[in-house]
Amino acid sequence: MRTIRTVAELRAALAGARRDGRSIGLVPTMGALHEGHLSLVRRARAATDVVVVSLFVNPAQFAPTEDLASYPRDEARDAELAAAAGADLLFAPPVREVYPDGFSTTVHVGGVSEPLEGAERGATHFDGVATVVTKLLNMAGPDVAFFGQKDAQQAAVIRRVVRDLNLPVRIETCPTVREPDGLAMSSRNAYLGADERLRAVALKRALDAAHAAVRAGERDAGAIAAAARARMAELDVEPEYLALVDPDTFTPVQQIGDRDVLVAVAARIGRARLIDNHTIHSN
Ligand code: PAJ
Repeated sequence: MRTIRTVAELRAALAGARRDGRSIGLVPTMGALHEGHLSLVRRARAATDVVVVSLFVNPAQFAPTEDLASYPRDEARDAELAAAAGADLLFAPPVREVYPDGFSTTVHVGGVSEPLEGAERGATHFDGVATVVTKLLNMAGPDVAFFGQKDAQQAAVIRRVVRDLNLPVRIETCPTVREPDGLAMSSRNAYLGADERLRAVALKRALDAAHAAVRAGERDAGAIAAAARARMAELDVEPEYLALVDPDTFTPVQQIGDRDVLVAVAARIGRARLIDNHTIHSN
């Protein structure tokens, strides 16, 4: 696996593959790679001919109060893990390569980017994500880009950008990878102390409770959410939000009907802000 720092080198490295009609897969990451990220790399390895993993801690998507400075960084370790999972190229540009002097364009997605994560983290979060992902797609020109269902709203925002801007790429969303007790893997789990780590399972338990309520015949979103919140309270965790929404638009759902519904939850546990979600399939 080669590590690449500039857009020009990246394009040169991919030119041969593109000319020969080999498919290119892109897995955007901010590093601190774990099994969740590596599942995307393995999926890209299986689905495309040339696998590019990008590693860029994107300053534009962090609010001033967030953990940009302390975000875990270990490129040598990430490079080893990415290579072992099947990456051909690691694209790890410096900030000035992505945001050179004078940079002044923002990709803003309306609608789906506004509630839940958009409301909690501020409007600039998804602007930062949409802008950097649009740039990474234009830099690498992949046939397929791979994202995790763990960040369901992010994936929905990106699907919207790709449709709205006619970007010639297929977006594939891959299942959430979990720890044995159900906690969704996240780079931010490293912030959890021992007691907090035990309580962090509250998010998954809440999603399971929501699912169980639906299986038991409950159709009212408020009642389903209440059952999920009660489960979290048992572990002394208060959600920042717990909502039943449409999986594409993220508008609230009042009743379980004949469409899929996404249950999304966020909670702060100690220094870590955790998110998780579960899709309740119609039928
Ligand atoms: P990061 O948090 O590093 O995540 C990179 C990708 O890994 C995202 O698509 C995310 O959804 C996926 N991922 C994280 N944890 C996962 C898990 N437990 N199971 C499955 N997939 C998981 O998300 C970002 O970086 C950034 O916002 C980025 C898209 C790179 C733009 O800067």
